[in-house]
Amino acid sequence: MMSTVVIYKTKYGATQKYAEWIAEALGADLFNIRKFNKDQFQNYDTVILGGGIYAGNINGISLISKNFDQLAGKRIIIFTVGIKDPSQPVNAEEIEKGLLKVLTPDMLEKIRVFSFRGALDCDKVNVLHYSMLKILAQVTDDLNTPDVDEGRVFQEAFEKPQNFIEYDQVKPLVNYVKTMEYIKEQR
Ligand SMILES: Cc1cc2nc3c(=O)[nH]c(=O)nc-3n(C[C@H](O)[C@H](O)[C@H](O)COP(=O)(O)O)c2cc1C
Repeated sequence: MMSTVVIYKTKYGATQKYAEWIAEALGADLFNIRKFNKDQFQNYDTVILGGGIYAGNINGISLISKNFDQLAGKRIIIFTVGIKDPSQPVNAEEIEKGLLKVLTPDMLEKIRVFSFRGALDCDKVNVLHYSMLKILAQVTDDLNTPDVDEGRVFQEAFEKPQNFIEYDQVKPLVNYVKTMEYIKEQR
């Protein structure tokens, strides 16, 4: 029997919701990153780490980079949660850049990444985040990608709360882990 752990770092609950769905679908253990001790990695052969995206940085992934030696031989999966649509290439690129701020290219090559859309209610964020969001909303069109308005998604979140959290988004990740478990069992 394979053992899987889902660890999440969340500010406003979106990543936690996805982590709960994944853990339930896989029968995996579930930890808030604050309650997880790196010595517990040894109990698992699949490690799934989820983190929200904040100004291009992905929360929690240093847990993977700092303990990469300890994770040798384990299957590592990262899922990111952001308000931007990750199916747009420009947003997928930004996620990759965020990952590479913390992980080396060699590390990233060994990790499977999934990206989900979260939620954003500007009236519910803390003061620091509110002023960060004001700045992000002012970012104008990138000349390299004139069809993508970088600030629009944040402007919309000031107009009304945005919520893209939906169960279907976890299915590719869940299916991937189940397929890998199945293949391993057949060997
Ligand atoms: C200050 C701030 C900065 C953010 N920056 C980004 C960003 O760069 N890209 C993105 O896709 N989403 C961004 N978001 C949206 C969050 O990623 C989104 O709210 C997500 O659901 C947060 O997950 P969490 O509640 O689990 O932390 C930002 C949100 C805040 C409050």
